[in-house]
Amino acid sequence: MLSSILLKASRSPGVRRAVVGFPVTRRVVDRFVAGESVESAVRAVRALRADGLTATLDHLGEDTRDATQATAIRDAYVDLLGVLHRAGLADAAEVSVKLSALGQSLPVQGEKLALENARAICEAAEAAGTTVTLDMEDHTTIDSTLRILYELRQDYPWVGAVLQSMLRRTPDDCRDLAGPGSRVRLVKGAYAEPAEVAHTHKPDVDAAYESCVEILMAGGGYPMIASHDPRMIEAAAHAAKAAGRAPGEYEFQMLYGIRTDAQRELAREGERVRIYVPFGTDWYGYFMRRLAERPANVAFFLRALIGR
Ligand code: FDA
Repeated sequence: MLSSILLKASRSPGVRRAVVGFPVTRRVVDRFVAGESVESAVRAVRALRADGLTATLDHLGEDTRDATQATAIRDAYVDLLGVLHRAGLADAAEVSVKLSALGQSLPVQGEKLALENARAICEAAEAAGTTVTLDMEDHTTIDSTLRILYELRQDYPWVGAVLQSMLRRTPDDCRDLAGPGSRVRLVKGAYAEPAEVAHTHKPDVDAAYESCVEILMAGGGYPMIASHDPRMIEAAAHAAKAAGRAPGEYEFQMLYGIRTDAQRELAREGERVRIYVPFGTDWYGYFMRRLAERPANVAFFLRALIGR
């Protein structure tokens, strides 16, 4: 209930103005976002690398309203990839991209524009010596995102996809995307989805996650197990062993600022672990989804407001 209110609020311009306007919000946001600048993102990558972790950088932004804004986000990613290359960090960080930020939802030729912008980012990633993963947004965008993924993979077979276990279609998508070399990040799903297309009870989402883990681990691709849930992590380690995969033939992923001890513990155990590091000024939608995932985060936020 609280979660669906927060997810609705994540799309409301009025609530956005109010939340962003609280001076105290910034302190709470800092727990989940590495900073506003490219320098802060680079600092976060270096710190993670020192602890044996890799990163995927998200230049925050979504629901772009015009082509100029989409181009600016593309250019920001291209510049970021150049910075990573020059800093010698291309083996420590890739980038995660939201196609809605690149223009996907624009009414005229949005998909074409997003594809062109994503292609430019892939070209820059290839030149820098790293990779790109396409984040997955709400269910109405999936077919378009997968079409763009397949197009990009013609030239850049290393482009990663994200699949969400909460969606009923996902086991089929996992089977389609489990081929050799296919990088697939499996998540539970962070968007408010209707029951016609999604499991709405957490135990069903979790059971679907475990089935999808098995499909991906048994396939020929590179599974990226993105969850903070100890049960999902254990299921993935088990499925990897059953499929004869050694650490490094799959990876675990978690979000910046969430279960940081567990992130380092997995790396110490010899697992490959990648942290999703968001940075930039457009943090509102990302922040609200993190609040929606966990009521304790809302309490933390409210305590900060009251205590100011
Ligand atoms: P679950 O929500 O069951 O949480 C398990 C435990 O993790 C909790 O009990 C708590 O301890 C901790 N935890 C989880 N969320 C927390 C939070 N916000 N704050 C504090 N603790 C928290 N989604 C999507 O739809 N499209 C995408 O492209 C991505 N990309 C992505 C990348 C990566 C690397 C990760 C880790 C996640 C995503 N997600 C995503 C988000 C994902 O769909 C999901 O909403 C969150 O990962 C939370 O689900 P868990 O699997 O962690 O389990």
